[in-house]
Amino acid sequence: MKDSMLRWQEADEEQIAYWQSEKGLPPPERVQVADDRMPADTAYRLACGGTALLWRGDFQNAKLLLQAIARRIDNKKPARRKKPETLTPVELFHRYRLSQSQRARILEKLLIPFNADLSIPLRRTPDVRSACWDAYGSRTEAFIAPLRELLGLIGAHEWRKKGIDIPALGITIHPHYGVFAPIRNEYVQLVAQAASPTILDKQSIAFDIGTGTGVLAVALTQRGVQRIVATDHDPRALECARDNLARLNLTDAIELVEADLFPPGQAALIVCNPPWIPARPSSPLEHAIFDPENRMLQGFLQGLRDHLLPGGEGWLILSDIAEHLGLRSREELLHIIDAAGLQVLSKSDVKPRHLKVADTSDPLHAARAAELTSLWRLAAN
Ligand SMILES: C[S@@+](CC[C@H](N)C(=O)[O-])C[C@H]1O[C@@H](n2cnc3c(N)ncnc32)[C@H](O)[C@@H]1O
Repeated sequence: MKDSMLRWQEADEEQIAYWQSEKGLPPPERVQVADDRMPADTAYRLACGGTALLWRGDFQNAKLLLQAIARRIDNKKPARRKKPETLTPVELFHRYRLSQSQRARILEKLLIPFNADLSIPLRRTPDVRSACWDAYGSRTEAFIAPLRELLGLIGAHEWRKKGIDIPALGITIHPHYGVFAPIRNEYVQLVAQAASPTILDKQSIAFDIGTGTGVLAVALTQRGVQRIVATDHDPRALECARDNLARLNLTDAIELVEADLFPPGQAALIVCNPPWIPARPSSPLEHAIFDPENRMLQGFLQGLRDHLLPGGEGWLILSDIAEHLGLRSREELLHIIDAAGLQVLSKSDVKPRHLKVADTSDPLHAARAAELTSLWRLAAN
């Protein structure tokens, strides 16, 4: 329990409270109480120096202070370092991730208190209890968490309430906190449009590996597949998929299974959309974006052949952004496919349409502008 407690001095007394961090951050060691009187420059300097600020002022002012600290980080001239044009794509990517994590480390120093009922004992606080409940569940003790984390989970709660339109399927999907949200969902149209293996007419069973919100399993039902088994190893994802299937009245059509990759048995069609970037996630919330050492990609490809019925197909959804960033070569991907006893039947592509593609100030602009997302149709050799 020791490392989940936060300690600080306040009113001349040692204080202690539970520490909450969805990113798994350790409780800060140096904590100073702060309120509306603290100038942004002071807050920025303290946060950069590693001191966390436990907010006792007005909630809306805490949000403004966070923005003021973010502006100071973003406007700071970087120390002398190599010009971006002299860096390789891999170096650019690692520099980008390092600056993102340093930025996050500073911003996460502004802390706010929560009551056990998930309300916040500060002036002008909106009711954030249901947003907190989605992520934290019920609590029995008061606790302290970074304000930035709270703002993230309020944003996630809004997505969950409003839902994300999936034009290729004519549905809305409601992502839960911590579950991969198909905001960029051009890849769904690839699954909706690809030609089915003929064996699916006779043995109408398909698997969706790493189902997340359940969106690709829904795409399979719309293609008329009779029996679908969708897996995920993350209980939050399974809960989210269960919620979406219930909203769409598809609970009986799709079986959800907690599994590391494949469920038992074989299928005529197996789809998988693994995380696209082979790099270490910096927090549990990034597990659906980063796939260290291509773990899920390799696991899927290596197990695919054994789980396909004769004449069956595996559909791999993968963006080539990792290739443009120099993190995985096309040859490496083809080698993994070949070594798994698979052949490529065809590949169809779609160009991402999200706003970042047009943002020339984005350090990863070149890679994002060149990115294609593909559906690889694979079969046993
Ligand atoms: C990029 S998300 C894709 C989610 C969904 N299929 C979609 O297309 O929106 C990858 C999903 O795979 C899941 N996942 C990662 N490793 C897994 C494993 N070894 N077994 C099962 N699921 C896994 C993650 O929890 C996540 O939900």
